[in-house]
Amino acid sequence: MGKSILEIDDLTKRFGGILAVNDISFNINEGEIVAVIGPNGAGKTTLFNMISNVIMPTQGEVRFKGEKISARKIHTLAKLGMTRTFQNLLIFENMSVLENVMLGTHIKLNTTILTAGFRLPSVKKDEEMSFYMASEALELVGLKSRMYERAETLPYGLQKLLEIARAIVSNPTLVLLDEPMAGLNDSEKNKITQVILNMRKKGYSFLFIEHDMRVVMEMADRIIVMDFGNKIAEGSPEEIQKDPKVIQAYLGEEVF
Ligand SMILES: Nc1ncnc2c1ncn2[C@@H]1O[C@H](COP(=O)(O)OP(=O)(O)OP(=O)(O)O)[C@@H](O)[C@H]1O
Ligand SMILES: [Mg+2]
Repeated sequence: MGKSILEIDDLTKRFGGILAVNDISFNINEGEIVAVIGPNGAGKTTLFNMISNVIMPTQGEVRFKGEKISARKIHTLAKLGMTRTFQNLLIFENMSVLENVMLGTHIKLNTTILTAGFRLPSVKKDEEMSFYMASEALELVGLKSRMYERAETLPYGLQKLLEIARAIVSNPTLVLLDEPMAGLNDSEKNKITQVILNMRKKGYSFLFIEHDMRVVMEMADRIIVMDFGNKIAEGSPEEIQKDPKVIQAYLGEEVF
């Protein structure tokens, strides 16, 4: 396994009286796929929001490639090589599939609205580059043939893939996926699993939140289990499935 790229130290988030995330620490190594699981309300999305700098931690620190990230804006985080998707789809429905993915390339390119207005030669080059990068990403997720369709006409499962294409188009090192499989049928889940496993071969790392245990066990190198804001276990899929604390947290549910 590669070197550590993400370090999370004693991360804590309070919302008033609610301790949503309590003193969580773990690392992610280059090329690794790590899953975060846990019952509803365990604090998984809140953890992601702190890692991706959407909200400030109450306590603790996140370092990405050795840099403390809480001082950074989200788009600069993408420039540094971390992107994410959201639990609720964030698709621009009136734009084409292609345009939605091209949005994710702008962090790499220099075009601003001002230079675009003047149609400078550099803009045309940036547009071409953006188009090229977006088509590559769409090819990877199997959506290239639909790139000129309006995003809203795609079925839900393909919109999830579109979001993943936008997250990977900038060639990030680490991609955070918040419930990539939610609402999908088995064949769509298999498709996304294959896409992610292929991307890992290309060197991408993933941190993903997921409720579907079959998917988690198939994809994850390592699993972090949360319950009521706490990290209650961390280990390989085999270790997690037989961990009494994990079984207790899911008591009454047939998850494994
Ligand atoms: N902005 C907020 N203000 C107040 N409380 C919040 C806020 N965001 C989350 N919470 C609370 O923090 C706790 C953790 O929520 P979070 O969304 O992180 O859980 P989760 O593990 O992602 O759950 P799910 O599996 O349902 O998505 C919950 O009790 C939730 O109600
Ligand atoms: Mg959540």
